[in-house]
Amino acid sequence: MTFDPAKIMQSAPGAYTTIGGREYLYFVGTGYLGLHGHPEILRATCEATMKYGMGSATSRRAFGNTPPMVDVEARAAEFFGMDDAFYFMSGYLGNSVVVQAIGGTFDVVLIDESSHYSVRDAAVLSQKPMFTFGNRDPDSLAAVLKEQCTDGRRPLVITDGVFPVRGALAPVREYYEILKAYPGSALSVDDAHALGAVGPLGRGSLDQAGLPWETVNTNVQPKDGPRLFLAGTLSKAFGGFGGIVPGSADFIAHIHDDSPYFRAANPVSPGVAAGCARALELVRDHPEMLTRLHANVKLVRDGLRGLGIEVDDVPVPIVCVVLDTVERMQRVQAELMEQGILIAYNPKYSDLGPKGGIRIAVFATHTEQMIQRLIDGVAKVLAS
Ligand SMILES: Cc1ncc(COP(=O)(O)O)c(C=O)c1O
Repeated sequence: MTFDPAKIMQSAPGAYTTIGGREYLYFVGTGYLGLHGHPEILRATCEATMKYGMGSATSRRAFGNTPPMVDVEARAAEFFGMDDAFYFMSGYLGNSVVVQAIGGTFDVVLIDESSHYSVRDAAVLSQKPMFTFGNRDPDSLAAVLKEQCTDGRRPLVITDGVFPVRGALAPVREYYEILKAYPGSALSVDDAHALGAVGPLGRGSLDQAGLPWETVNTNVQPKDGPRLFLAGTLSKAFGGFGGIVPGSADFIAHIHDDSPYFRAANPVSPGVAAGCARALELVRDHPEMLTRLHANVKLVRDGLRGLGIEVDDVPVPIVCVVLDTVERMQRVQAELMEQGILIAYNPKYSDLGPKGGIRIAVFATHTEQMIQRLIDGVAKVLAS
């Protein structure tokens, strides 16, 4: 396998990132709170690695349950205002963790047609009939439900909370209202891009939509609405690595008892767990990071709008720009790169149209001057 040396990352991702030997002003990836190179996180990671080794060489059910693993779950529980949490090897597995935890309580799985691969994998894992509905389309969901759940079959709806390239929020409030007509129904979000970044407290898309937080990731079936679930990752906004599912004590205890990801595999490296625990503490102790991220999102969106570019009005740190032609988008990307500014042009992604789109990732550590440089850079290319 050969790799393009110009694309190899040679520093921690941050507002400035070195790639292929050049330092760029960086608006790519998912490090929304700018924590990946934070010295306190790195120190905690190194110290715990020296103490506990690279790995525990056995599952947590046996003797592999190191203190950093217990710590990171306690910190995550605190962040989400829940009793406990389950921390596991990869955010990619999050939807599967939830699906396994609630298996047996649903009969049909409905997923957004543009869902992340991991949503699709989780749906397949459930071994229940699977159907898709239109991307972010409540009417389409209602129609598929009507067709597939007439006989009391209980639906589980899974969607990305935030779509990774388009940066759009799923209309979870509308889904919630529709699902009220289906007793025993459930709605689960993959909040990989939302946790730590979206919502007044960074708790993700369900909280942003004002859905009843106290019912999220619990074993309780609310009388008047669907059950709510979320899965996420610490590898994006939180600057670490590994998947996270917070929840009520009994919900998490059931996962700890039952999940193969707990019982039958090595957990995340203890050093990484310690770094993640420190990251969660930093986010708890510095709410100004989230405030700053939200302000920066507004600055970027307003700045692009000021250039006459249409951008969605959502509080998400992923800003998607679709220009009239592919050539124009490629030119914006290439010329900004020449100016030392990195943004991504995605020629195709499941929820983008045929032209693809430019994806701009906003970080809490971008300064106003950096954002102005981005906007001026785009303006310069569009004017030429
Ligand atoms: C929507 C979504 N879910 C899950 C994941 C997987 O998370 P992780 O990379 O932490 O395994 C990603 C990763 O890019 C993602 O975009």
